[in-house]
Amino acid sequence: MDRNNLKNLLSRIDSYVEGLFAPSDPALEVALHRARRAGLPEIHVSPNEGRLLQLLAQIAGAKRILEVGTLGGYSTIHLARALPEDGALVSLELDERYAAVARENIVGAGLGDKVEVRVGDGRGLLAEMVENDAGPFDLIFIDADKVSYPEYLEWSLRLSQPGSLILADNAIRGGSVLDPEDESARATREFNETLAKDVRLSALILPLIRERVDGLAIARVL
Ligand code: SAH
Ligand code: DHB
Ligand code: MG
Repeated sequence: MDRNNLKNLLSRIDSYVEGLFAPSDPALEVALHRARRAGLPEIHVSPNEGRLLQLLAQIAGAKRILEVGTLGGYSTIHLARALPEDGALVSLELDERYAAVARENIVGAGLGDKVEVRVGDGRGLLAEMVENDAGPFDLIFIDADKVSYPEYLEWSLRLSQPGSLILADNAIRGGSVLDPEDESARATREFNETLAKDVRLSALILPLIRERVDGLAIARVL
């Protein structure tokens, strides 16, 4: 099969799964529309990956969730929907303007009382959270600047407990991790190697299809 046929088949499979398991959802559609109108970059997780995040949070029985990289709150809404009545999610975002859009979307999805979006550099905010003993979280989703992934992993380990899940988006980056040519691909590769080697973790990368191939890293803290 040539490259274009393969791409076409993968994209049809993705749409097929999406049609079955990620049917149209008003709150999510409004969230994407609002983000687009506000000029946010369209780099949110795909509907299928959102579904997977939600399912993983449910399987983990997560009551406290931490997210690094909110953007317009699209992944946040999926994760927060998995929370029980008394659950809570904290999401960290560098850009004040993105955070404002996310808050609107989260309130619009009826999740305003469970979710807090904090503005600042993820590295500093995580350091502060460790300092304040803000952990442990049952699930941590890393999806901010890729160069900081190794650092986010270290902070995440300090904010988790045995059984916690640490997830990270963009672990494959269209295959650029195979032959890294820039800082962010190199950092992602280093992050993946740490996940594989670290004795504190049991992990795997699940390749995912989008417009390009990417992957979700899934790690369980031992
Ligand atoms: N999780 C979102 C997408 C996040 S895109 C979703 O799937 O819906 C990555 C986000 O990380 C962007 O909003 C960007 O502003 C934010 N970001 C980049 N560098 C950051 C940093 N140092 N600290 C916190 N957030 C950062
Ligand atoms: C980018 C960031 C992401 O988190 C993503 O899922 C896709 C692209 C980016 O910065 O280009
Ligand atoms: Mg991402």
